[in-house]
Amino acid sequence: MRVLLFTGKGGVGKSTMAAGTAALAARGGRRTLVLSTDAAHSLGDAYGVEVGTSPREVAPGLFVQQVDAQQRFQESWGELQRYLLTLLDAVGVDPVAAEELTVLPGAEEVLALLELRRQARSGGWDLIVVDCAPTAETLRLLALPEALGWYMRRVLPVERRVVKSLRPVLSRAAGVPMPQDSVFDALERLHSELDEVRALLSGPGASVRLVLTPERVVLAEARRSWTTLSLYGYTVDGVVANRVFPSDGSDPWRSGWVQAQEAVLAEVSESFSGLPLWRSVYRTEEPIGVEALAALAAQVYAGSDPLALPARQPFTVTESGRGRVLSLLLPLTTRAEVELVRHDDDLVVTVGSYRRVITLPAALARLRVAGARVENEQLQVRFVEEAS
Ligand SMILES: Nc1ncnc2c1ncn2[C@@H]1O[C@H](COP(=O)(O)OP(=O)(O)OP(=O)(O)O)[C@@H](O)[C@H]1O
Ligand SMILES: [Mg+2]
Repeated sequence: MRVLLFTGKGGVGKSTMAAGTAALAARGGRRTLVLSTDAAHSLGDAYGVEVGTSPREVAPGLFVQQVDAQQRFQESWGELQRYLLTLLDAVGVDPVAAEELTVLPGAEEVLALLELRRQARSGGWDLIVVDCAPTAETLRLLALPEALGWYMRRVLPVERRVVKSLRPVLSRAAGVPMPQDSVFDALERLHSELDEVRALLSGPGASVRLVLTPERVVLAEARRSWTTLSLYGYTVDGVVANRVFPSDGSDPWRSGWVQAQEAVLAEVSESFSGLPLWRSVYRTEEPIGVEALAALAAQVYAGSDPLALPARQPFTVTESGRGRVLSLLLPLTTRAEVELVRHDDDLVVTVGSYRRVITLPAALARLRVAGARVENEQLQVRFVEEAS
């Protein structure tokens, strides 16, 4: 099964490209589900149909579903979220943990991940296309499973023990909330489910496609997204440049825009060299309905395989003569922009305002970091035996 996520800045055409790609794939015989993590009902608008909270077939083999956040889950997640934040505040948890927790997203996003998991496990789909919210929310969403996993492994066991022994004494003390075991149980269940989602999304069948329009601000955000998605271990498989003006016609307004766009498009192809870059023409009308969207996608991909995956692995560990090397794909970054901190068994990698806490595999955890560099768009961290 293939999972394909579409993200990009607000309004660039994510839903359009997601809906179009799905329509094209379904036409090619793949049983396809398009899932929206966005509260706005844009998928339904794109296909021109009513979309419900269970998959609805809008064309042969093409199903659409809107995740419904209006469920009881919202309340329980809100409660957990509040609890975590208060607790952190109250007990002064390690600052790394505190910063990690600031990535906790809202209920809709978590719910969308859980629904993705449920649909992926159902085995009923060849392809699941996810129409994501704009970049920042998507990044928060995709950082969540690992961040929560880290919290669960490092903080929760201790907390659970402490809470157990202190509950009788402290339950009436002001300030520190004393959760019941059920809160921990719920959190643990959520964790193991989100961990499955993480494995699915960083696994071999999943990738993220960036949608942009040929404008400098939009490009700048897309570049940062590529870096950050890679930091979190997700594979970016290509870029769609949408709303490209056709170059025919000669009025000065149009040719001015065509020129400006061409300049940015040259930068786009330079920025994302090594990735496929597809162009989507600015149409004279909104592409609405399965037919129009499939036609748009067919033109965009122009015979290339819209579901192809790049060969590069986001995260690898290799042996070299001089120790073991952990490599993490970090495109468009220089060494100066990367900050590395070792915390026991964790390696904390910060790029710009994004941070990932990588729990080192056992084979690396017992070694010492001997050096790091950024080369060929990869962060390479070298580990050697502890000098005895
Ligand atoms: N190539 C195109 N030509 C003409 N209209 C387009 C094109 N691509 C998208 N549109 C139109 O632009 C609008 C925004 O597109 P879309 O909803 O796909 O963007 P989005 O990135 O999903 O937005 P949001 O961030 O709000 O989710 C829609 O009305 C859509 O029909
Ligand atoms: Mg959208």
